[in-house]
Amino acid sequence: MTFLQVKTHTYRFLIFGLLVILLSCNSKTSDIGLNISSENPIEHKIDSIISKMSLDEKIGQTAQRGKSSRVKELPKDLKEAVRNGHIGSFLNIMNKKDAKELQRIAVEESPSKIPLIFARDVIHGFKTIFPIPLGQAASFNPSLVKEGSRIAAIEASTYGIRWTFAPMIDIARDPRWGRIAESAGEDPYLTSKMAEAYVKGFQGDDLSSPTSLAACAKHFIGYGAAEGGRDYNTANINDNLLHNVYLKPFKTAVDAGSATFMTSFNDLNGVPASANSYILKDILREKWGFDGFVVSDWNSIIEMVNHGFAKDQKEAAEKSINAMLDMEMTSTSYQDHLKELIDESKFSEKELDEIVRNILRIKFRLGLFDNPYFDPNDSILYDKNHLLSAQNTAEESITLLKNENKILPIDAKKKIAIIGPLADAPHEQLGTWTFDGEKDHSITPLQAFKGDNNYMINYSKGLSYSRDKSDTEFDSAINVAKSSDVILFFAGEEAILSGEAHSRADINLPGAQEELIKELHKTGKPIILILMAGRPITLGNILDKVDAVLMAWHPGTMGGPALKNVITGVVSPSGKLPVSWPKVVGQIPIHYNHKNTGRPVVPEEFVHMDSIPIRAWQSSLGNTSHYLDAGFLPEYPFGYGLSYSTFKYSDISISSSNPKIGDIITVKVLVTNTGDVKAKETVQLYFRDLVGSLTRPVKELLRFEKIALNSGESKQFVFSFSTDDLSFYGLDKKWVTEPGDFKLWVATHALDESNELNFVLK
Ligand code: BGC
Repeated sequence: MTFLQVKTHTYRFLIFGLLVILLSCNSKTSDIGLNISSENPIEHKIDSIISKMSLDEKIGQTAQRGKSSRVKELPKDLKEAVRNGHIGSFLNIMNKKDAKELQRIAVEESPSKIPLIFARDVIHGFKTIFPIPLGQAASFNPSLVKEGSRIAAIEASTYGIRWTFAPMIDIARDPRWGRIAESAGEDPYLTSKMAEAYVKGFQGDDLSSPTSLAACAKHFIGYGAAEGGRDYNTANINDNLLHNVYLKPFKTAVDAGSATFMTSFNDLNGVPASANSYILKDILREKWGFDGFVVSDWNSIIEMVNHGFAKDQKEAAEKSINAMLDMEMTSTSYQDHLKELIDESKFSEKELDEIVRNILRIKFRLGLFDNPYFDPNDSILYDKNHLLSAQNTAEESITLLKNENKILPIDAKKKIAIIGPLADAPHEQLGTWTFDGEKDHSITPLQAFKGDNNYMINYSKGLSYSRDKSDTEFDSAINVAKSSDVILFFAGEEAILSGEAHSRADINLPGAQEELIKELHKTGKPIILILMAGRPITLGNILDKVDAVLMAWHPGTMGGPALKNVITGVVSPSGKLPVSWPKVVGQIPIHYNHKNTGRPVVPEEFVHMDSIPIRAWQSSLGNTSHYLDAGFLPEYPFGYGLSYSTFKYSDISISSSNPKIGDIITVKVLVTNTGDVKAKETVQLYFRDLVGSLTRPVKELLRFEKIALNSGESKQFVFSFSTDDLSFYGLDKKWVTEPGDFKLWVATHALDESNELNFVLK
């Protein structure tokens, strides 16, 4: 027994004694228990349950069974297993009758009558689908994200779901990785803000409310750092990078109260995450004080045999359980081997009690012991307020990347050609991980424009789907273009091209989309390229052929109306990139918060390979860290996104240019909407610690805020931060803020250095 366990045990003993005394003085037993303190009654009840559980039942609590989302029928033996107390949780039970029946068996017929917890991947909406998480991050609006996840929870709970496998807060710096679509992008601060918003939205103000879902911060950890962006691949992340970048959003998720965590598939520096005691015990439990439970990913325990980290499933179970991984998703290595492992003293029943305690604690917090059933009334699904919220989020996520000659917004008098495989693709616009969203509820851009008599529309698909390589419909598309004033070309990727196991080595537009754009360009008509995709798309082959680029991500159920509002100027675009957008795939990784190196880029000295003389003498031309063919800049930087308006930043000030460690520092800026239309602006504050005991990134996002401004209106943005916000995890494994020179930028994106401030920290 560890020191911590001895302490907890003694503490529980004392509480139990106190409770016995109180109980003997009062007959309203359960009330008295609840009054002792907000936490102890639950722990006491758990003690009492665990003391009566058989070993088989305890092992049962660690088991999460389920079916693939595609299998409709519930296998019969599962009911018997629940009756015997051999299952603690289910995933993907989408038949309400089955869910109710399984729960009834658990709470009425199983030995300890412990309720089940039903889980599902409710990632960016349940029925009402919001933009993919990467798109939601582009909104830079955590309150919208919180609202969206609250709505997802309200809808999902009508199916008995009380646990979502979200948010995915893996830092994703490689757009080849398909799961970048599920992430909040490359930045630890933005991802942390999103993590907090998702957790609070899913869990609501009170986890025990029947519409609250337990959140699951995933994947712990390093999954987004998979080598080469190939899903499931190895992650090598040194300790400083791990703490300074990858762990940050997860720490925020703990602080925001995330009830559960999920381990990742990858091995981290040689140790698979599902058996990694350093991250699961030392960091998550001991350092961060997490008291919820951790679930494995789908089969990730037994996959450690493939990793070559365990010789068989028994050894895999031994390694994971000793790392205190509480629940096993789908595979059965705990069920098959834990008893044996305990008999062989490779794990103790006492330790298993701690694991069961973690799981029961969350079941109690969810109120499942008091109210195990759910309200199946699903009249709330696709509620008009839910749809409106999904539309608002989609509008705020749409990111304007290019707008030559202010071609956007388009006015109603123009004849519009709507072309492209994503213009009327109700399923595709929902994006990855939408098990429950139904395409029949999607409003596509074509439908949205057609439904408005103010617009004269000509439509030709041109290509049937994004990977379509056939040119049979090119002529029809060209004819439609010729008879119109402007072309709206809806391009991108089908939903299935991003998400889990859908990494791509080439992130150009797939199929014959580029060819069609080139053909349409020959008509001389302006082209507005609207992208729907789960990742940045490299545009080098066609960027000069289009007049405007709008990134709509996969915008969800209400993508059509949202896009129409942005394209026609009802709403000014306000999305900002949550990820640097590469010119070519070979530039990856190209995140903004890289290190300076000993030979940082000097833009004036950069030599493109076409300018190198033939048979040039060997030299380190340009002398800096860049590519001869692709330079050093991304196509578009992190934080970038245009508006239909313009903004002036003025009166920029800092509270002190000589602050001391421990001070709160305030930066103020007056922002004026100098354009003609109402618009939202996201002001970003970046910092750089110029000299450190470890090299520091060239820039780090410190704060951001989004505010709406009417034309001509000015507002002051005030950013406050403490010197702790400037700290980093050092070589001595401690967080430190080091005195010295710092720079700050009040910026419109990560490469904007027009408003620089300096301070010296004492
Ligand atoms: C994914 C998880 C997901 C789980 C359950 C796994 O393949 O990696 O993110 O929550 O399946 O569907």
